Amino acid sequence: MNTLVTSLYIVAFALFIYGLMGLTGPKTAVRGNWIAAVGMGIALIATLLLPGMSTWVLILIGIVIGTLLGVPSARQVKMTAMPQMVALFNGVGGGAVALIAWVEFRDAPGYVGHPTYFVVASLFSAVVGSISFWGSLIAYGKLQEILPGRPIGLGRAQIGLNALLLVAAIVLAVVIGTGGTSELLIVGVLLIAAVLGVMVVLPIGGADMPVVISLLNAFTGLAAAATGLALSNTAMIVAGMIVGASGSILTDQMAKAMNRSIPSIVAGGFGGSGTAVGGADGVDRTVKSTSAADAAIQMAYAEQVVVVPGYGMAVAQAQHAVKDMAKLLEAKGVTVKYAIHPVAGRMPGHMNVLLAEADVPYESLKEMDDINGEFARTDVALVIGANDVTNPAARNDSSSPIYGMPILNVDEAHNVIVLKRSMNSGFAGIDNPLFYSDRTSMLFGDAKKSVSEVTEELKAL
Ligand code: TAP
Repeated sequence: MNTLVTSLYIVAFALFIYGLMGLTGPKTAVRGNWIAAVGMGIALIATLLLPGMSTWVLILIGIVIGTLLGVPSARQVKMTAMPQMVALFNGVGGGAVALIAWVEFRDAPGYVGHPTYFVVASLFSAVVGSISFWGSLIAYGKLQEILPGRPIGLGRAQIGLNALLLVAAIVLAVVIGTGGTSELLIVGVLLIAAVLGVMVVLPIGGADMPVVISLLNAFTGLAAAATGLALSNTAMIVAGMIVGASGSILTDQMAKAMNRSIPSIVAGGFGGSGTAVGGADGVDRTVKSTSAADAAIQMAYAEQVVVVPGYGMAVAQAQHAVKDMAKLLEAKGVTVKYAIHPVAGRMPGHMNVLLAEADVPYESLKEMDDINGEFARTDVALVIGANDVTNPAARNDSSSPIYGMPILNVDEAHNVIVLKRSMNSGFAGIDNPLFYSDRTSMLFGDAKKSVSEVTEELKAL
């Protein structure tokens, strides 16, 4: 039986890794997801075949509840709500490993008689799993707007309080590690870690949440790997390490693309939520408004139009309308390309996923480094609900909070048309000089409505 289980596990690991490779591009991502899911199914079956597995009814009830909750919510979730969905699913993983640590504690009791590696790994899982569960719930609450998205914290005192909580959790863990058997000890560890998870995430602004979720995801992976170590379960070790490693790499890449450090994100306080900024510094600046008809004429007579999608395109769900408009332009002989910034939107690959959903050919999507050189010879850059990722202050204003963040050089295009509803800021809460440039015209309104109007005008030309 053990050889069969080991063989099944090896097949499952190969599928996890092969599936993960598929996630590197939109074309192969869906297949990659399926492959990894099949791998997880095989790992589950292998685990159920382990000797001593007897609680079949309980396991079955768990599978039914999980399926009933998981499948409909995953099918119905909107693309824009994906980060909070990931937070919830990831948090549940953290909670599960924390509960395993508790169950093991009750079994021994108090880990007495277990080797040191078991005790250390279990306590690590209890602390990190509980932090991850409660932190993820707060992240979910913020993104779902159940909780206020703004940073909520104690200011400078926050770091001291968090450090105190961490020390308290470690002290209780040491008491357990040196032979403490009272159940209050493990409950204390779980509760203190829970408060710490809440306290760490509450002061972080809602818009930074995707990075935090990715970080918590990495934590959950490590906690699961530690549980695998304690239980001598290879599947948990390998799957946990894959999640831990890929989550850490993703967090690092997201932070780099935003030109922020992970400690500065965790320290919190960054990011506004669409506050009005135009002229807020007292300098009188005017913007040029345009109409759908003028925008259509400008683009119809262009050689090349580069579409620059951002978070607003996701909010407006304008991707299908954008595709229809591009088709008309192409029929008129205009070359249409899409400039994809790595952190446009609110989750990694957000724009790729939306445009792929609208069947925009993958070859038309250009990564930032590939398209930036082309803006200077582009007739019209059509900015659809993007803001921060086009902000030239990141390049030339060293006092800007986003200074140093790599951006799309939209301001170099001959003409820029910006589709947004108002002069409100984007995620970073700052003004965008691009909007006041001589080359820029603003087409105010919901992105989907504006794009559809432009399309109608194009049809009439
Ligand atoms: P943002 O800078 O957030 O700007 C989005 C703009 O869309 C807003 O200025 C808003 O202006 C407009 N908008 C919203 N709803 C709209 C609608 N229905 N129709 C038309 N316009 C609409 O977006 P971005 O340029 O994509 O930049 C992403 C930002 O998020 C970056 O600062 C990035 O660092 C941050 N971030 C990204 C990620 C990932 S992984 N992608 C994770 C965390 C944070 P109006 O309100 O005036 O319409």
